[in-house]
Amino acid sequence: MRELKIFSGQANRALAKAICNFLHLPLGEVTLGKFPDGENFCKIEEDIRGRDIFLIQPTCPPVNDNIFELLIMIDSCKRASAARITTVIPYFGYARQDRKDEGRVPITAKLVANLITRAGADRVLTMDLHSPQIQGFFDVPVDNMYAAPVLYDFVESIDVAPDKRIVVSPDVGSIKRALGYAKRLGSRLAIVDKRRDNATETRQEHLIGGPVEGMVAVMFDDMISTGGSIVGAATKLKALGAAEIYVAATHGVLCGKAIEKLHDSPITTLAVTDTIPLTPDKVSPKIKTLSVAPLLAEAIKRIHHDQSISILFDRAEG
Ligand code: R5P
Repeated sequence: MRELKIFSGQANRALAKAICNFLHLPLGEVTLGKFPDGENFCKIEEDIRGRDIFLIQPTCPPVNDNIFELLIMIDSCKRASAARITTVIPYFGYARQDRKDEGRVPITAKLVANLITRAGADRVLTMDLHSPQIQGFFDVPVDNMYAAPVLYDFVESIDVAPDKRIVVSPDVGSIKRALGYAKRLGSRLAIVDKRRDNATETRQEHLIGGPVEGMVAVMFDDMISTGGSIVGAATKLKALGAAEIYVAATHGVLCGKAIEKLHDSPITTLAVTDTIPLTPDKVSPKIKTLSVAPLLAEAIKRIHHDQSISILFDRAEG
């Protein structure tokens, strides 16, 4: 069996180290940096000829830097004769630009998928893609994992009787996900009617289903970016009498004024996973981090041994 080696870009070394700890493997030696003119640099500092390589790099902010660093890491491995290169992209940036919904705009998620494939990735391991169809943008196998098991554990740790809990979908696009969680948790479902005015502003018009009065509302989302969607929904739920509001999301992008909005919101706790690192400016008593390192480590182990990873979807959404 070819030797397994794991390397990390600079986007989330803490997650890469945690994954290596679970696998009892050292993190591979790589030098990454920039030339004075801003060009990226990469040198794999170990012999990787004929090895099974996993490159860990979420393409979170700074998105373009992290994507480019991943591309040159792939190129370095390819040119150093790695046997197989699996890109582990726990958070796939540009995922929301996945369709042409007006004239003269790009489908950037597809362009990024092309770049990764053309650079030489043989496989992709990712988590909670914004839309699962993005798997089809890659012409190599994609394993799209679910963070659902760790999100369930968080929700089940909230001290509330199941009949006092209601799952709320923060928008119509998330109904399928929310329905899956509601079924799994044995809770009722309500849906917030969210209208997006532009990239940063949303309006929450109506609540479909309910009632939420006196209930503990739990919202699930794939990502929290500016926080507009989730805070708008929480404000609506509070106005309708929800007793407490919890949010569980896979990717804590938390850009712009997300942290300030969260502090001023009626949300009790926002749980996010460690697909994206929480930089010191994002640490908040309202944020709880859950680790997906064990899930990703198990997936890496199974991919390396050519074993099925379906078992890891056992507690997936829906
Ligand atoms: C929407 O389709 C997504 O699932 C998220 O709800 C949304 O993109 C989060 O963005 P923001 O936090 O900026 O509202």
